[in-house]
Amino acid sequence: MSDASPETLPEALSLTTRTALPDGFAFLLAEFPRPVWEGHPNNGQWCQFWLQRHQMFRDYSAALTDACAQLSDGKIEAQAFHEWFVPRVNFYLGEIDTHHKIEEHHYFPALAQADEKMERGIALLEGDHRVVHDRLIAAHGTIVALDAAIREAAGDVASAASSAAGAARDGIAALGDALGHHLDDEEDIIVPLILDRTEPVLGIG
Ligand SMILES: [Fe+2]
Ligand SMILES: [Fe+2]
Repeated sequence: MSDASPETLPEALSLTTRTALPDGFAFLLAEFPRPVWEGHPNNGQWCQFWLQRHQMFRDYSAALTDACAQLSDGKIEAQAFHEWFVPRVNFYLGEIDTHHKIEEHHYFPALAQADEKMERGIALLEGDHRVVHDRLIAAHGTIVALDAAIREAAGDVASAASSAAGAARDGIAALGDALGHHLDDEEDIIVPLILDRTEPVLGIG
């Protein structure tokens, strides 16, 4: 067993610092590059569902950021925005939290045991979750402030909401940047292992 853990991860590998995965982390990606993932016989139900969740996070991030930008720019009406935005942003943040907990408690331990070369990759991904969580908390703060600005505005709601919407746009975009980077690297580390070993052998799905 190595001592790989989020605590022993070099700063150069943190989600906020690294620009690409160093050699050896996605050690099966050359054998199973992205173009062969879809339709591969070992891309099973679990893997397909998991990739769909990731794409849903990317789509929600883009849509929520865009909605805040439109409100900030005065292109949409605050009450209509509020009705659309609140349930979706609550769902988005809650699902990220749930997704990370399931990965950390169930799937990451199974994948780390599958091959000793996976251990440091899983430690890196757990470290990523901490960065994403910090950005989620920061984004949540901007969303609470925007919600209050719209609900408590007396008179000119558009002007009261505009700067809070700009802050929420930036907070959700910063979360989406970190999350998107994490999802790309997580997929490059994990999907090739699934295609190589199969879900039943790995004990997932
Ligand atoms: Fe993750
Ligand atoms: Fe994930």
